[in-house]
Amino acid sequence: IRTRVAIVGAGPAGLLLSHLLAKAGIESVVIDQRTREEIETTIRAGILEQGTVDILESSGASTRVRTVGNRHDGIELRFEGEGHRIDFPSVTGRAVWLYPQHEVLKDLVAVRLAEGQDLRLGVTAERVEDAETDHPRVIAVDADGQLLEIEAEFVVGSDGSRSVVRPAVTESATGGYFREYPFAWFGILCEAPPSSKELIYSNSANGFALISQRNATVQRMYFQCDPEVDPASYSEEQLWHELQVRVPGTTLNQGPIFQRDVLRFRSFVAHELLRGRVALIGDAAHTVPPTGAKGMNLAIADVIVLERALRALLLENDARLIEAFPETALNRIWKAQHFSWWMTSMLHVAPDATDFDRKRQIGELRSVVESEAGKTYLAEAYTGWPLPQAG
Ligand code: DHB
Repeated sequence: IRTRVAIVGAGPAGLLLSHLLAKAGIESVVIDQRTREEIETTIRAGILEQGTVDILESSGASTRVRTVGNRHDGIELRFEGEGHRIDFPSVTGRAVWLYPQHEVLKDLVAVRLAEGQDLRLGVTAERVEDAETDHPRVIAVDADGQLLEIEAEFVVGSDGSRSVVRPAVTESATGGYFREYPFAWFGILCEAPPSSKELIYSNSANGFALISQRNATVQRMYFQCDPEVDPASYSEEQLWHELQVRVPGTTLNQGPIFQRDVLRFRSFVAHELLRGRVALIGDAAHTVPPTGAKGMNLAIADVIVLERALRALLLENDARLIEAFPETALNRIWKAQHFSWWMTSMLHVAPDATDFDRKRQIGELRSVVESEAGKTYLAEAYTGWPLPQAG
């Protein structure tokens, strides 16, 4: 089949890109190996930057953020048993929204299907060929094992951290800058009312915990754990104990735990984001550790930059913006890499941390919460740096 833009991966980045391209009159085909059910139910992060919400709403991709989601005007940093609130609007004029990624995906799938998007699920991309020509191709296999070849004017890899498009851009499966961390998050979903009005990021001698939320009756919480831990090995009682000891000074509202998972931590940026007429966005281009919730927001920021460049290329035959795409996107990517690494290292306790490291870390946390400049940096990064204006 032929199309103008072939998009591999129907996550938030790929679907939003197809949506914005369609609005500009540019046809695309989106493929993903997962089913609609899998795409819409995978539990991921929960925090949207104001700029992410603005683009979802102004493009007509989501109308539910303000009704189903909740605005959050601050977070609490907790250490040594005390909470310190960071207020966002007073320092940045912006807030964030708690609106889970799978809700964003439900909105995007619904709007793309309603508008007649060629969205092919259960189709597994195998590789990209002819990246450096004007007609790159995606070679894929459908659910029945039939070969599917998509010839396009441009190919986009929005197919996540195990991207099959990436090798066509970086010329190796891994080609990137990366670092690993000696810990992971144990995440749970439970039936309980919120334990606090806002999210709590807690540093304690026992390690990190994040007390997040989903709605009035379901909460999301995480605690720092060994990356090798088997999620089934904890009883509910042990899980509540592990969480509670990491948030001294706050009493958690407990309830039945109905979902548990272990999230690995990795920082990664591909060596190249563009080769010829193939580009990488979202987790295919970069991953961040989850602390600070930058992952999906960064993917959306990539989309905004790439969509504008594709409009110039495909509607006006102007390649300047696509040539500048890596540099423009990397500016934000490395700031988000730094912020995610910083929040992670400031809040977690490394397995080999010495007494010096622990005391230095408390000094670091104090330098943030006792300083307007410190709080302002955190608030700016958390709520998101300004995006290029749409249009
Ligand atoms: C959530 C995840 C994050 O990584 C974070 O920083 C805040 C919230 C969440 O899943 O709710």
